[in-house]
Amino acid sequence: MGRKVLLFLIVGILSAWYLYTPLPANTEQPWAVMCLEACLKTINNVMQLVELLGISHFMTGVNFLISFVETSPTSDENLTVVDTTFHNIPVRVYIPKQKTKTLRRGIFFIHGGGWCLASAQFYGYDLLSRRTAHRLDAVVISTNYRLAPKHHFPIQFEDVYNALKWFLRQAVLQEYGVDPKRIGVSGDSSGGNLAAAVVQQLQCDQDVKVKVKVQALIYPVLQALDFDLPSYRENAHSPILSKELALRYISEYFTTDRSLEKAMANNQHIPVHSAHLFQFVNWSSLLPEHFRKGHVYKKPTFGSSALANKYPGFLDVRAAPLLANDTQLRGLPKTYVLTCEYDVLRDDGVMYVTRLQNARVLVTHHHIEDGFHGLISIGLKVGARMENQYINWLSDNL
Ligand SMILES: *[C@@H]1O[C@H](CO)[C@@H](O)[C@H](O)[C@H]1NC(C)=O
Ligand SMILES: *[C@@H]1O[C@H](CO)[C@@H](O)[C@H](O)[C@H]1NC(C)=O
Ligand SMILES: *[C@@H]1O[C@H](CO)[C@@H](O)[C@H](O)[C@H]1NC(C)=O
Repeated sequence: MGRKVLLFLIVGILSAWYLYTPLPANTEQPWAVMCLEACLKTINNVMQLVELLGISHFMTGVNFLISFVETSPTSDENLTVVDTTFHNIPVRVYIPKQKTKTLRRGIFFIHGGGWCLASAQFYGYDLLSRRTAHRLDAVVISTNYRLAPKHHFPIQFEDVYNALKWFLRQAVLQEYGVDPKRIGVSGDSSGGNLAAAVVQQLQCDQDVKVKVKVQALIYPVLQALDFDLPSYRENAHSPILSKELALRYISEYFTTDRSLEKAMANNQHIPVHSAHLFQFVNWSSLLPEHFRKGHVYKKPTFGSSALANKYPGFLDVRAAPLLANDTQLRGLPKTYVLTCEYDVLRDDGVMYVTRLQNARVLVTHHHIEDGFHGLISIGLKVGARMENQYINWLSDNL
């Protein structure tokens, strides 16, 4: 009897210790966040074990689980929803059913998931696209793209870019009744990275006649140069996306070779001959006082050039939109950036806001003081607030 009680106590204490996540005092629905984090932690740990046993790559394992919460294209009373392809890239299209005499706004949405996970079909993204299409009476194109670990940069970028260029053709816009003067590109997390990157690329593409009116970046990843930003220091162990997990995703965009991830963790992945790039992500000058929070800027550290020679992608502006110079940023469309306080990626977004403002681009910055990464389509109240702010901004600016 005594032994059973002891065992029960030990198991109880261990699971409480495992499931308990310290949260900031201003967290809304702390129990829900803790449960979500406990779920994610369990999935991650199980998949790390699966990977350790050589059964499958970590990301492949997680994506297998995500495939159970994918939806089929289901039309409802207000929207026609279809899966189709744009230039051989699978996309899901949401078209309002209500008759209209005028052309509609068009939104090209790019899902997140660290370039490794999820799809336009994922339950949360499907819901977000439905609500966006319905509330804005807009045509929403939610694109897929090939994922890591099977595919690495620039495949993800190119898939998205090809699908977007296909959408921007006169004949396609006409087919969907989209106004070429009212097109927005948006995305969250790694989708925000791809959104910022393709919008930059469009600017200098002579083939594309239609220009996008706005871009909306939801807690985007915008650089792979400096992982010692105040937001990385403060949120290394924040729920949903720890620094360790962020680096796993970011390095996986470029290679499955884990030595890049290790070098990134020590901030020693940049060769000294790329030192000039640090000016574009220099947080001591690009973060407003409020976001510097008394952190002390450390001079960049450098590593050998071997990694950059093998995987030059992480120094490529198409993977790291913050690396564009001011001339390249000038003329970008009106921009919305949403950042969260408890997010390693916070300073990526804040620095891009400063860089765009310096280049005289119109920018709206919404900072969610009690926000965590990745919650926009998850069903928590804080995510609903993010979604409202994002859709309201599109409603006013697109
Ligand atoms: C369709 O639109 C109406 C009016 O906005 C709304 O009340 C209803 O809930 C919508 N239906 C769905 C399935 O979203
Ligand atoms: C970053 O900016 C600070 C000024 O705020 C400057 O002293 C420092 O040299 C800069 N570092 C780099 C690498 O650009
Ligand atoms: C900015 O980058 C573009 C493209 O790499 C280059 O052609 C241009 O010279 C750069 N401008 C400045 C001011 O460095």
